[in-house]
Amino acid sequence: MGRVRKAVLPVAGLGTRVLPGTKTVPKELLNVVDRPILSYIVEEGRKAGIEHFVFVTGRNKAAIEDYFDHAVELEAQLEAKGKTELLEQLRAELPKAGEMSFVRQMQPLGLGHAVWCARDVIGNDPFAVILPDVIVDAEPNCLAQLADAFERTGANIIGVEQVPENETHKYGIVAPAERDGRLVKMSGMVEKPKPGTSPSNLAISGRYILTPQIFEELARHEPGAGGEIQLTDAMARLMARQAFYAYEYEGATYDCGDKIGLLRANVALALKRPDLGEAARAAVTAALAGAV
Ligand code: G1P
Repeated sequence: MGRVRKAVLPVAGLGTRVLPGTKTVPKELLNVVDRPILSYIVEEGRKAGIEHFVFVTGRNKAAIEDYFDHAVELEAQLEAKGKTELLEQLRAELPKAGEMSFVRQMQPLGLGHAVWCARDVIGNDPFAVILPDVIVDAEPNCLAQLADAFERTGANIIGVEQVPENETHKYGIVAPAERDGRLVKMSGMVEKPKPGTSPSNLAISGRYILTPQIFEELARHEPGAGGEIQLTDAMARLMARQAFYAYEYEGATYDCGDKIGLLRANVALALKRPDLGEAARAAVTAALAGAV
């Protein structure tokens, strides 16, 4: 198995949990502290060795493609005003030529369908899937931890975290068979189990490394939970012929597609910033004092 060089980022979701802002701004471009969620995600991928990002977009998501391009007028203004630090910050995250591809998912048929839309760009290599509304704060980062586990096992790996029993119905949940430290050999998985039927509290949280055979399973286009074509169902079928591991990564997970998750990410990441931490702490403390 080769090293993981490509990642699929499904960014076609509507962001209904954080409306009305997402009426005109893709949720992946909402700021956390002072840069878009996607900026954290692409940084994580690059640090984990990803060399090609495949965005699966939808209507009203053109701003994502623009974000990863020059803003000619803005850059000229910043240059004229001598704001070189800001200008360098903007330019630093621009892609190298050919580092990003954009594929359109024309109907919202589910996460599995979105990943399948990237099949021709991914080709016949193992690849990562990164859900771009989930920020994981970790060192080494979450995808790098998974890539390391993939190099050891050569098998499909899914990042998981423990969630409270009463929240398992919101996630894909894995059924563990044997555990070796953070690596868990799986015996099954289920998308959004009904309350009381969950095989564990290990939830799939948005980072995957998969073999290209997943596309054969996705091509069946079978709808699952919620009537959507689910990635979890395709993975469960692929388990009949390939090994799957869950990896309980180290780090803090923030679901930024959710109001409180987005708030938690903003507060936690601002508090950790050397340049903003002190001011953030004072602001949070004052807000708490005012709330009681
Ligand atoms: C998706 C996946 C699910 C995973 C979740 C993590 O669900 O289908 O397996 O646990 O992301 O956020 P969604 O949140 O899109 O319904």
